[in-house]
Amino acid sequence: MVIGPPGPPGTACAGPFSGNTVPAAHRRYHRGVSETISPVDSAIHARGLTKRFGAFTAVDGVDFDVAPGEAFGFLGPNGAGKTSTMRMIGTVSPVTAGTLTVFGLDPAHNGPRIRSRVGVVPQADTLDNELSVLENLLIYGRYFGLSWAESRRRAVELLDFVQLTERSGDQVEPLSGGMKRRLVIARALINDPEMLLLDEPTTGLDPQARHLLWDRLYRLKQRGVTLCLTTHYMDEAEQLCDRLVVMDKAKIVAEGSPRQLIEQYVTREVLELRFNRDEGDDGAADDTSQLDGQLDGLAERFEQLPDRLLVYTADGDATAAAAFERGLRPASVLVRRSTLEDVFLRLTGRSLIE
Ligand SMILES: Nc1ncnc2c1ncn2[C@@H]1O[C@H](COP(=O)(O)OP(=O)(O)OP(=O)(O)O)[C@@H](O)[C@H]1O
Ligand SMILES: [Mg+2]
Repeated sequence: MVIGPPGPPGTACAGPFSGNTVPAAHRRYHRGVSETISPVDSAIHARGLTKRFGAFTAVDGVDFDVAPGEAFGFLGPNGAGKTSTMRMIGTVSPVTAGTLTVFGLDPAHNGPRIRSRVGVVPQADTLDNELSVLENLLIYGRYFGLSWAESRRRAVELLDFVQLTERSGDQVEPLSGGMKRRLVIARALINDPEMLLLDEPTTGLDPQARHLLWDRLYRLKQRGVTLCLTTHYMDEAEQLCDRLVVMDKAKIVAEGSPRQLIEQYVTREVLELRFNRDEGDDGAADDTSQLDGQLDGLAERFEQLPDRLLVYTADGDATAAAAFERGLRPASVLVRRSTLEDVFLRLTGRSLIE
């Protein structure tokens, strides 16, 4: 699914490549509490935002605010409504009901003005395979009304920023997935946007490519660019987002910083226990039944996954020791810190990636 090409140019604006100074509009944040931000101050303001496709509701009355300069995320599984929300923000999909403003502007009447100030990285790469790496950027610069000379100047700078200078004259087709993603990000920056909309920026990339992209996004944020991204990777959300909403089945089910969400919904640590299955037992889901309440009182909460038991506890080592004292002999024991995956499991009873 794509967010679409940019519209015609509108107001000129300060952006990532206009120098080291953070634009004035970006300085006054972070207030963090959404209720204190007025629609005019918000980069994005949504109340009761709804998207329907016929009788099907893809986004069901969601409320959120994104402050200028903030890195804001939508974390959720397949089909949660993340792309549908991003496409409304990107002004390529009409709002069905509710309120949405982007930079205080109504997308229904100000699409071109909004698009001129936003860079879009769609979920699916929409590069032109007929053109070279450099030409893909030049064409986009022209969409925004830049002169050839200015397009070229920015394209060269951006290819350096995403470490693709050496591939400048190459065709796009043979580039690796990570390179294509970096090129789409460079393309999204050609109009010096105040805000980047990134729909699953690193899905399908190897760890090295993901870390390179995270670094580039972090640098953009430091320059004052607002980041609004979707992901179903909890580590990406934890790495990149100041604040995020957890989306599930078209609704927002929680909101906060990664740390706040973890503190609010789960314990500090998780003890993961695996037990050897009985001979001849071909079902995995029933492992806890063998424990016969042996873990009762040891932890705040338990989650049985197909392959392991998650024990939510402030002190995983102490809980593991207590379990041993009660005679439990798990095949493997792992103590780890809680993550957003645990938050998601708590909120929905399901894993993020199923
Ligand atoms: N153009 C459309 N017509 C009909 N249904 C749609 C359309 N676009 C999205 N949907 C449906 O809306 C729901 C939400 O889709 P959306 O693409 O917003 O989810 P997502 O959270 O981005 O998922 P993913 O992680 O798989 O990208 C899905 O059930 C999808 O099938
Ligand atoms: Mg999507």
